[in-house]
Amino acid sequence: MKFFNVAGPCRPGRHYMLPPEPRLPEARELIEEGLYFVLHAPRQTGKTTTLDALADDLTATGRFLAVRFSCEDARVTGNDYAAAEELVLTAIREACATLDVPPDCLPPTTWPKVAPGSRLRVGLSAWAHRSPLPLVLFFDEIDGLTGASLISVLSQLRNGYTMKAAFPHSVALCGLRDVRDYKMASGGDPEGMQGTSPFNIKAASLLLNDFTFGEVAELYGQHTKETGQKFENAAVQRAFEVSQGQPWLVNALARHITRHMRVPVSEPITDAHMDEAVERLILERATHLDSLVDRLVEPRVHRVIEPILAGTNLPLDERYDDDLSFVRDLGLVTRGRPVQIANPIYQEVVVRVLSQAVERSSTPSHAPFSSRTDGSTFPGFSRSSSRSGRSTGRSWTSARPTTSSPASWSSWRSSSGW
Ligand SMILES: Nc1ncnc2c1ncn2[C@@H]1O[C@H](COP(=O)(O)OP(=O)(O)O)[C@@H](O)[C@H]1O
Ligand SMILES: [Mg+2]
Repeated sequence: MKFFNVAGPCRPGRHYMLPPEPRLPEARELIEEGLYFVLHAPRQTGKTTTLDALADDLTATGRFLAVRFSCEDARVTGNDYAAAEELVLTAIREACATLDVPPDCLPPTTWPKVAPGSRLRVGLSAWAHRSPLPLVLFFDEIDGLTGASLISVLSQLRNGYTMKAAFPHSVALCGLRDVRDYKMASGGDPEGMQGTSPFNIKAASLLLNDFTFGEVAELYGQHTKETGQKFENAAVQRAFEVSQGQPWLVNALARHITRHMRVPVSEPITDAHMDEAVERLILERATHLDSLVDRLVEPRVHRVIEPILAGTNLPLDERYDDDLSFVRDLGLVTRGRPVQIANPIYQEVVVRVLSQAVERSSTPSHAPFSSRTDGSTFPGFSRSSSRSGRSTGRSWTSARPTTSSPASWSSWRSSSGW
């Protein structure tokens, strides 16, 4: 029996899931053309799920060998680029071992012994040379590499791409950051690298978007098809409103209702159920939400969030723009203008965390977050004003939320266009 997945990538046959490839329609063409590109999106948006599906499909055509592997293990290496490239090469070999790779397409039994700083390039070249199928490599969690290690990996890819010898046909770097950041990190300003960087093409930066309303309805519809239990339209609507289609949140809400609240399958799922799921989700503060909260103590995150909550003008300087693009990449704020917290659930979590910090140091004054356009309060959220979530032990007292500061449902609605 399938279920709503909230723990890592979705697996076909096990989890309710949207077909991943249509979420990234441009990728196939870039790969066919032998281009190198960046896929970026905040955490838990479906990057790994999508890359796995794409890799399986590409390999199934019999025309490519496509492999996704994670650079996460190399996080501990810091600037030790020799250790980092070793771990990346190990990750590639391990990923191949989990796939049904024809023996002649496997990486060489041992990677060529050459000087550190060129082992990845020479290793990939040797592999591409021996493999009868063009290689397509997805470097997942590329953010795991930092400093000299990231520079080394990127410049080896760049050098390999531009040299005449065999090299992987297409490469995707997958992480939170956009292509510009990798160009900078690999030692050149974006313009200066034109012509030499494989990542210099504007089209080579793909963003994985959150779900549309139709996609949320389609995903929930899979549960209806499997169990007969309906999601009322108002429930789907509410799920979309509070999550703005953030894929993990969409699944987590449905999981609360179907698993933890155990609404009998003979009953339809209503907006009231969804409201309760929102409240439970916020109180539970799963890792997904906690990892965002952890970011609130960072000064650059603080600099972006504070004026949004306080309703004051956003600073107009270059440092703010850098901070903003960082906080956008985290998925904490919207990409378009006006800049807002990305969705009402995140907003509520942020406000509650900040209010708790304020409450600990002064008289409580947390105003309810949610008044709907019809003037009624959002039941799940309004309960929060009298109930505290788990304490985080953090303080951010300068961003004290007031009655007028956190966006109300109506201001959220009007400015985000729904
Ligand atoms: N195709 C999909 N259909 C439905 N939900 C998805 C899909 N892809 C991802 N998700 C949701 O997003 C979560 C994170 O997926 P994952 O692929 O690990 O994202 P990322 O690699 O961006 O962190 C999953 O646990 C699931 O809740
Ligand atoms: Mg992932």
